Amino acid sequence: MTEPVKCSVMPKRSIFLTSALPYANGSIHIGHLVEYIQTDIWSRFQRIQGHEVVYVGADDTHGTPIMLKAEKDGLSPEALIEQVWKEHTKDFEDFGVGFDLYHSTHSEENRRLSEEIYRALQKAGLIEVRRIEQMYDPEKGMFLPDRFVKGECPKCGAKDQYGDSCEACGATYLPTDLRNPYSAVSGAKPETRESDHYFFKLSDPRCHQFLREWALESNRLQPEAANKLKEWLGEDEQGQAKLGDWDISRDAPYFGFEIPDAPGKFFYVWLDAPVGYYAALAKWCEKSGQDLQRFIAADSTVEQVHFIGKDILYFHTLFWPAMLKFAGLRTPTNVFAHGFLTVDGAKMSKSRGTFITASSYIAQGLNPEWLRYYFASKLNGSMEDLDLNFNDFIAKVNSDLVGKYANIASRCAGFITKRFNGELLGDARDEQGQTDHSDLEAMFPEAAPKIADGYENRDTARVVREFLVLMDAVNGYVDTHKPWELARQEGQEARLHRVLSTSLRCFARLSILLKPICPRTVARVETEVFGCPSLQWSQLDRPPVAKVGSFSHLMTRVDRTAIDSLIEANALPA
Ligand code: MSP
Ligand code: ZN
Repeated sequence: MTEPVKCSVMPKRSIFLTSALPYANGSIHIGHLVEYIQTDIWSRFQRIQGHEVVYVGADDTHGTPIMLKAEKDGLSPEALIEQVWKEHTKDFEDFGVGFDLYHSTHSEENRRLSEEIYRALQKAGLIEVRRIEQMYDPEKGMFLPDRFVKGECPKCGAKDQYGDSCEACGATYLPTDLRNPYSAVSGAKPETRESDHYFFKLSDPRCHQFLREWALESNRLQPEAANKLKEWLGEDEQGQAKLGDWDISRDAPYFGFEIPDAPGKFFYVWLDAPVGYYAALAKWCEKSGQDLQRFIAADSTVEQVHFIGKDILYFHTLFWPAMLKFAGLRTPTNVFAHGFLTVDGAKMSKSRGTFITASSYIAQGLNPEWLRYYFASKLNGSMEDLDLNFNDFIAKVNSDLVGKYANIASRCAGFITKRFNGELLGDARDEQGQTDHSDLEAMFPEAAPKIADGYENRDTARVVREFLVLMDAVNGYVDTHKPWELARQEGQEARLHRVLSTSLRCFARLSILLKPICPRTVARVETEVFGCPSLQWSQLDRPPVAKVGSFSHLMTRVDRTAIDSLIEANALPA
């Protein structure tokens, strides 16, 4: 009748897992949370399957914007990033994002590893110094990144456009093409100056060949990402390498790591940022007495999986694997990209109040598990953008989590505690050995492999769909057998006990399946409803629980007025 649950017999895997490192000059917002929630769900699922997961993160702390933000706030960059680190770690904790360690790219581990990788690339003959021209702010005494030069669009004449592209007409150009350029830092007219820059020679045929092999290996990347890479590698043309060399240095003043033997030159933030993954891992290894080499050596058998947004695919599928490869280290097993979050159909906007920070969501008293569930229901493993529609969010949470999931427990648990001292029947058969529930209970081990597959492939939309089918079946069973009526009838004790036991066992199984998405709610189900240590995936095909305790309601409904206040709290004064 029931197949064995597939995943419990799979060999054990070891996985080093990351989410992208958020910049340390701003708050975590709901766009970021798409990624951290997606990664966390995957991490929890893998652990539930018995695999070893080391999930780390860190703040991305270097670069010009952070240096200037600190200056504006009257702080040292060190003080700013320390303050932001505290906020970020609290936000992640609030949303149940369970990093094993959360570090900073401004750390000794990162300095050491960045230098080691850089020196190895130098040794491999892949670093070259070249003189380039760049915009310079004579008043501020610093070179200006493209985004810090503004002026009139050379194409349409729109004012106050950035140095790389025009927001009015979409044209792209060089900062030197802008008309009437000015420094966004001081307002001064920028000059063009020369400076020596360090380049990583990505145009080297060795890099090109390696990247082609790496990227196209089976299932490493999503099909959309693999196609992008083919385009970047010039695979659509006559095998002509399209990759240019990568400028990895910036001139002082710059908040970052000074390049060894290059006074006044600093690693560009994107050089040391991904190394930050290894810095966090190194710190975790040190704390837990593990060997870093087991994870990062060229022959490592640990999987290395990066979750990122589609906007930073270029860095993670070209620069980062090439850096690792030619530094003699292992390369990523998978890079999984997700799309961008829009809110009510539009880009998140500060003026509309849809640039919603993680901390404001918590401050409104909204439940983080609602957002986790909603994002899970939207994410399908592709790079498509996803929309947070607030009416849909309210309807979905209230219908699925409150109306269907929590409702099973509230409809059944009271009776079982009052009438049967909280004890479930072991095997819910009647005197004739008949059951009216076996088909229902059998649905769980049958659905388990499909749900596991959904989790594995980051298709949590599918997980939620399957979950809904099961919830509807359980609620249908309760509706059909009407325990509230049985409870009033004479001589229906045994039947009532059977119906309640079956429903609550199914509720426990639903909780097992929901655990990666709503870990906190399920933790309450474990401790308060069932008083059991931890529900296990392997219990899907056998009675998972034997007793029910008394508990208060599991989850409240979302209220539109709370959402309105949330939007208001995030709206900038016009
Ligand atoms: N610091 C870099 C990443 C360095 S990784 C070595 C960075 N930081 S970020 O703060 O801008 O973004 C962090 C992650 O959040 C990125 O993967 C980015 O794609 C993701 N998101 C930021 N805004 C987002 C949305 N609106 N929607 C979905 N993901 C978004 O990039
Ligand atoms: Zn323009």
